[in-house]
Amino acid sequence: MTSSPTSTPRLPSAERRAPFEHALLEAADIAALSPSSHNCQPWGVAWPTGRGARRAVERLVDETPDDGHQAPDGISGESGTAGGDSDGSDSDRGDLYRGDSDEDEYVILALDRERELTSLPAHAVEMLVSCGAYLQILLRSLALQGWSTDRIRFVEPLGAGRTGRADFQTGVAYDAGRSLGDTWPVSWSPLCAVRLRRTDEPDGSPAEIRRTALARRTNRAPYRPEAVEPAVLDALSAPSTGVAAGADVTVRHLVADDDRAAFAGFVARHGGRDFSHRQAWRETYSFVRRDEAEAQARGDGFPLSQLFGPLSTPRRHALRLALAPTTMSVLRHAGYHRVLARQLARVVRPTPAIVAMGLADASPGVEATIRGGARLAEYWLRATEAGLVLHPVSVVLQHDDVRKELQDRLGLPGRTFFVSRLGRPLTDFPRSPRRIGARAVRTI
Ligand SMILES: Cc1cc2nc3c(=O)[nH]c(=O)nc-3n(C[C@H](O)[C@H](O)[C@H](O)COP(=O)(O)O)c2cc1C
Repeated sequence: MTSSPTSTPRLPSAERRAPFEHALLEAADIAALSPSSHNCQPWGVAWPTGRGARRAVERLVDETPDDGHQAPDGISGESGTAGGDSDGSDSDRGDLYRGDSDEDEYVILALDRERELTSLPAHAVEMLVSCGAYLQILLRSLALQGWSTDRIRFVEPLGAGRTGRADFQTGVAYDAGRSLGDTWPVSWSPLCAVRLRRTDEPDGSPAEIRRTALARRTNRAPYRPEAVEPAVLDALSAPSTGVAAGADVTVRHLVADDDRAAFAGFVARHGGRDFSHRQAWRETYSFVRRDEAEAQARGDGFPLSQLFGPLSTPRRHALRLALAPTTMSVLRHAGYHRVLARQLARVVRPTPAIVAMGLADASPGVEATIRGGARLAEYWLRATEAGLVLHPVSVVLQHDDVRKELQDRLGLPGRTFFVSRLGRPLTDFPRSPRRIGARAVRTI
């Protein structure tokens, strides 16, 4: 092949893209291990390879935000120079889209509406938190393979008018999905677009984050009663990296006896809400799998043993029957939901620490909530590395009246979006099922 001395030889685009494709699939495999409410895994990642889609996402990323949505310096990596047009000006957006002549790649994080929880307004926050946790691990895994985040542009598509939900500050109602072309999956709502640039020397290897992501899991068993050392708690709250670096999140640890007792009492009083809320419980129950085999086959949700520990077959059948929505709607008149709340409180009470995370804004938008989720992922991975485990207790956040009472009672500012037991495990907990990482990735 000959080429003029002034131009770099161009590889066919599929060949040029192969290294990124490999890195993206590896990163998606690791990020699939992220936590999500009910293990619903509501995320999707679009990789624009078609000319039109790349042009559209480039425009999206380069749009100059007038509302402070641009990624802060901590997020933007080294600005790439490939293509000679990295200033983002409109003037050079003539014949080719910028990425065509250089090595930039883009991904778009989306909320998959077919996988999201919808029975409670607060689920909208939990879905974004889950997607934010996924994004943090995805981008970290890409960075460790030499693809660092250069720029992130958030979109605020969840207008109350469109979704009927009023708990988000909506920003501009912007149907970015449609603008990304015909290949955009119809059930996906774009949350943010990311530009990635090749870097030469990653500061680690993806095997490290894979190890930690595999070791991280929700542990609902009793914990060791000893206090968690203050220095360890401080390290968990230290400034974050990646998408989480821009998060306006307060992390509060409840370790004093009074606070922990107050929290356990609160769980005993309100922890039955989900069981007694017909729609919420019906939705939760749809994620309960008969056994490990069904859970593995479906790749999401949880077998009963994940919630209640190892079970004999007769007890498993009895529990499944007792928890079925139709039985529950009868048993709640006899106060069964209060029995379950007291059971949960009994596990919470001796836990040495409770962590509460809050967003500064009482009505957070998409960006703040995604970054909050990223912060949560960072926290949970650090806790795992420190030999700690978590067990979220979201029922006290899922109903606005209960959440506000909890925040008042414990003096938690802003919008508490995550509350969890934290401690050192007494027993291992089984890993929960996952969909294959590549299933969340689509080329557009
Ligand atoms: C935002 C959020 C809220 C959660 N709330 C609860 C909860 O209330 N109770 C619970 O047992 N697990 C909760 N979890 C944990 C998930 O159920 C768990 O991440 C999922 O089942 C996957 O299991 P793993 O964390 O062991 O990988 C929550 C997770 C997230 C991300």
